[in-house]
Formats: sequence, C-alpha cells, structure tokens
Amino acid sequence: MNLTRPLSMAQIVLSEEDIAAAVAVLRSGALREGPECAAFEKEFAAATGAAHAVSCANGSAALHLVYHALLRPGDEILVPSFTFVATASMAALVGAKVVACDVDPVTFHLDLDDARRRLGPRARAIAPVHLYGNPCVHENYAAFAREHGLFLIYDAAQAHGAQCHGRDVGALGDAVCYSFYPSKNLFVGEGGIITTGDEELAQRLRLLRSHGQSGKYLHTVLGYNYRMTDVEAAIGRSQLRRLPAMLERRARNAQLLGEGLAGLAGLRLPTVTAGGSHAWHQYTIVVDPDAAGMDRDELARRLAARGVPSAVHYPRGVHQQPAFAALGPATLPCPVTETLASRVLSLPVHHGLTDEDVARIVAAVREVLAGR
Ligand SMILES: Cc1ncc(COP(=O)(O)O)c(C=O)c1O
Repeated sequence: MNLTRPLSMAQIVLSEEDIAAAVAVLRSGALREGPECAAFEKEFAAATGAAHAVSCANGSAALHLVYHALLRPGDEILVPSFTFVATASMAALVGAKVVACDVDPVTFHLDLDDARRRLGPRARAIAPVHLYGNPCVHENYAAFAREHGLFLIYDAAQAHGAQCHGRDVGALGDAVCYSFYPSKNLFVGEGGIITTGDEELAQRLRLLRSHGQSGKYLHTVLGYNYRMTDVEAAIGRSQLRRLPAMLERRARNAQLLGEGLAGLAGLRLPTVTAGGSHAWHQYTIVVDPDAAGMDRDELARRLAARGVPSAVHYPRGVHQQPAFAALGPATLPCPVTETLASRVLSLPVHHGLTDEDVARIVAAVREVLAGR
C-alpha cells in the first residue's frame, strides 16, 4: 500500500487566513470592486516599490489594457516566442503586429540580438517575459528600449517577488503585468494587476478597465469591464502578507532540486540571472534526449508512473501557434524556441512541498534516468 501523499504541480488550496478574508467580504455583501481592491492596489504597489498599481480581471486583461493604452493598430511589438500565448495574443487583439523573437537558450529570455534583426520601422514596444520567475536583466532591455524609442512592457505573470539587482521587477519598465491565476506564486482565482511609475498611464488604465467611465454613465473613452472583485482582492491581500514565506519555500525547494539533480547526464538545470532573485514559479529542466537516453516525453511518462507529475511550459512557440498563422512576422522560425519546446519539462517546486516531497521527486528522476 502506498501511503505517500499525492504530489501536484501547484498548491492551489487557499490558507485559512485567505478563506477568512474572503468570507469577511462575502458577509459584508461587497461583491464587486471596492475598498478591498483599492487597499490591495496600495499594498501591491508598496510591496513592489512601484508608484501605482491597477487591479484587473486577470493577467491577460492586464496585458490587453496596457497594449490598448500604448499601442495603435499597425504598431509592431517585439515579444519572445517562448512564452504563454497571452503575451502575444493580447497585442494582436488591439491590432498590433506581433513580432515573435527567439529566446536565449540558457535564460529563456527574449534575445535582444534577434530582436535587433527583426526590428521594423513601426516598432513601438518590447514585451520581455520573466519566464518561470527568473528575472530578465532589466538594464539590457531598458537600454534597447531607449535606443529604439520603444515602450518597455514586462510580462511578470510568473514573477511575483522576483528581483533584478535588488529591485523588485514590479518597479521596472513602463508597465508590468501580473496574473493571479491559481497556479501562480500569488493566486486568487482569476485576477491580475498592472504596476507602473506613470500616473497618467495608471489613470488611463483605470478608465479602460471600467468602460471608460469617468463619472456615472459618463463614458469618456471606449473601454472594457476588466474589474477585479473585492473577494479576490481580499484573498490577494492575505496572500501578499504570506508571499515572502511562500517564495522562501519555493527557493528552498529549488535549491534541494538543484542539489539532488546535479551531475545527471542529459539534464540541464535552471539558471538564475546573475544579480537576480528568482521567484521559482516553475523549476524547468532541459532534457537532451541523446545524453539522457530518453526524450522529455518519455521522462515525463516514467515520472508519472512513479507518482511524480510534471508539465510542459510550453510545447510550441507563439510563432508555431495556428492562431498566428496569418500574422506575418509572428510566424518566422525561432530555432531556439523550437528546440526548447521539445525539451523543457517543469517539475513541482511550489510552496506546498516538503523536503520529503522534493526528495521523492529527486529520487524518481534519478531512478528513471538510471534505467531502474
Ligand atoms: C507568461 C504569462 N503571461 C500571461 C498570462 C495570462 O494570465 P491569466 O491566465 O491570468 O490571464 C500567464 C498565465 O497564465 C502567463 O504565464
């Protein structure tokens, strides 16, 4: 009989504090956006060091609002091909031309040399992604954006609490978009937030998120209903207080995984940006099928047979998505992305794991690769 508890890829169970905070709001009858959202925005801004934070319905809505505010139809935006589709699709939905760029094979971040090659005359923004929670080197992207007159929009959906050279990623760039989807480092269900240092942009985002309404039934611009609710914000506030502890546990798990998996032929372990602090949303290894003796999918299957879940983030680049087939520069080849898409495998690293859980994961990977 196997008495070990099942492992999962994410800890999506709310804490008692989170639940109490949500229940208090439910009891108050305040179901829509209200004081909890306002307080969450203030606290999130303070936690990241950003001047402003604008809550919204989810991470995709955060990107959509920022792209709507900063881009005009036909403007080009450089995005990494190796990301969740929303980084790119939300820009396409405001009529921008998505230029999918390749990524660095080690950091998985948008490759600026490749971006330089693909840059067109109508380039207006660049949207690097702090993929898996590993922070991009902000100085490099800021210099590129300055040189080419681009808005610098970060997708930090996976990077709550990540830091670059001592500064929280939420305080860097023109706008930073977060998601609070259940698998994320800070999770409320559906929710998102945008941080920015630009007061005018924050004002515009607030208008856009609520039908462009500047007074009761006075619609100054066209907008969306992308508001968060107070129930979600109350959970977010509770989680924000626990975020440092949750990140610490993720970092410990990543360290244990790194120590346990070191030296295995055919596995490349994740790196941390020099001078950065990784938020460990995912712990993603790269499997070299020749050196490992099996490909990524076979490793995943054999781990699953031992009760160890894993996931692929992501099995194809943006440029390989059928949805982008008709979108020109979004579809040009990105060879590094294509190789990574066939080789990456994320192992559990979330804050709900114990040392024993991590030891089980390590032992399973070692057994599988040793052919046992
Ligand atoms: C990199 C990235 N961007 C954007 C999103 C979209 O966030 P959401 O699912 O909250 O819309 C996600 C999350 O799924 C993500 O991982």
